[in-house]
Amino acid sequence: MNAPRHFLDLDRFDTATLRAMLDAGRAFKDGRPPGGNPQPLVGKALAMVFEKPSTRTRVSFERAIRQLGGDAVVLEQSGSQLGRGETVADTARVLSRYVDAIMIRTTAAAKLLEMAEHASVPVINGLTERTHPCQLMADVMTFEEHRGPIEGRVVAWCGDGNNMATSWIHAAVRFRFELRLACPEPLAPPREVLDWAAAEGGRVVVTTDVESAVDGADCVVTDTWVSMSDDDGDSRYRHNLLRPYQVDDRVMALAQPDAIFMHCLPAHREDEVTASVIDGPQSVVWDEAENRLHAQKGILYWCLS
Ligand code: CP
Ligand code: NVA
Repeated sequence: MNAPRHFLDLDRFDTATLRAMLDAGRAFKDGRPPGGNPQPLVGKALAMVFEKPSTRTRVSFERAIRQLGGDAVVLEQSGSQLGRGETVADTARVLSRYVDAIMIRTTAAAKLLEMAEHASVPVINGLTERTHPCQLMADVMTFEEHRGPIEGRVVAWCGDGNNMATSWIHAAVRFRFELRLACPEPLAPPREVLDWAAAEGGRVVVTTDVESAVDGADCVVTDTWVSMSDDDGDSRYRHNLLRPYQVDDRVMALAQPDAIFMHCLPAHREDEVTASVIDGPQSVVWDEAENRLHAQKGILYWCLS
């Protein structure tokens, strides 16, 4: 039996494979599906396992698989035996007998890997505390719809060096754009991710200086200051550290005049971004959210074909 086509993280793929997924997603979006078939996943089912809340990932994956002709079933941690201690490995073995792919959102990347190791069907990373690769596929798609090819362009990240930051670093290397991350030192992205980017020849820099990161950028990105995997007790500490990294009109004015603003959502207005920016003319966050649907069609099509 062939090994399942897992979608675990962007750094595990070559550029051409990621580009093929994006092209397929784009083709479904444009109504010219690959192979001419708008419903290539008839008879296929996706299980979606959620240890943590979700709005976009849950709805966009369910709509994506159904629009491609397939079916979806949701397992919440609390409503399944996972919540009573059944192992991820056993869950993987069982789900593999019922469905054709498994998407999992977990705050322990080790559980994603355990699922992938023991599933005989493709496993898709729907967010861990370490990465969020499905979001980045939608983000690259969104950038390119608004500003053309992302290769060689400049993206500035302002804020926490979190799971989204790591996936942006993976994307910068694979899609060959420059990424400048402005993060407070204690919240910089993991050293091994930055070392990986350097070893791959990526153009990724980390600074504590928002102005130099954003200067002339084509896109400014941020994310929540307190992620689902963070300890709520650290909220005040994080807010104090991250306050100087808020994306406001002054920050956007440092970027290119036609720069776009992106945020994976959910957003916290007047924390990581002001309402004037996220609800302003440079914001593309609703297109970005919509593109979760289209990019994930490309991912599902690659995993299941
Ligand atoms: N951006 C994102 O993954 O949103 P949800 O947490 O709502 O799925
Ligand atoms: N960094 C955020 C992303 C949410 C989509 C979190 O992990 O909570």
